[in-house]
Amino acid sequence: MNNAVLDTIAARRSHRAYEATPVTDKQLDALLKACMDAPSAVNRQPWHVSVVRNQALLHEMNAELRAQMMQREASERSPRFADPSFDVFYHAPLVLFLSANPDWRYSALDCGIAVQNIALAAESMGLGSVILGMPRDAFAGSRREEFEKALGFLPGEVFQIAIAIGVPADNKDAHPVHEGHVSYID
Ligand SMILES: Cc1cc2nc3c(=O)[nH]c(=O)nc-3n(C[C@H](O)[C@H](O)[C@H](O)COP(=O)(O)O)c2cc1C
Repeated sequence: MNNAVLDTIAARRSHRAYEATPVTDKQLDALLKACMDAPSAVNRQPWHVSVVRNQALLHEMNAELRAQMMQREASERSPRFADPSFDVFYHAPLVLFLSANPDWRYSALDCGIAVQNIALAAESMGLGSVILGMPRDAFAGSRREEFEKALGFLPGEVFQIAIAIGVPADNKDAHPVHEGHVSYID
């Protein structure tokens, strides 16, 4: 089937290496529009987006979440942390953080839908991305308020999800599809 949306969905990958090339303001505007165009329960649009190009802040957050992760058993953290130079943001030139008030029961789901809109928009524009849950751990310790303030979270909001975006510098195969996840009820 010749369908640009399906082609974009099929071509998207999680990219974990990026060129230093900045994401332009025009590209950023299109990514934010794709986010805001997402559906949400009762059209609440619970997300707030923090646009981060500040590498020093990302570096600080990476250091803090590494410290949090290293307090856990090795089996409870990604094996990627075995590499001391591992950067959870993969040195992407742009990271978007989605925050929302957790008291609304659809916040996490709506943010997940919105972040996928961003990922597909990025792919359609020749950019790469990776959705990031791991930055949550940067907010697990004593620096939570400092980072929430630095990111401009609105009162009552907490981290929901992030997405790193840039010109990809890696190649990745499509993920293998697990079988048995569909039931046909006639
Ligand atoms: C909610 C969510 C959180 C994720 N968090 C991370 C993360 O913190 N770091 C990372 O490298 N990949 C993360 N990923 C990417 C997944 O590992 C990836 O989507 C999966 O392995 C399938 O690969 P693909 O995206 O290339 O199809 C996350 C994906 C989702 C949907």
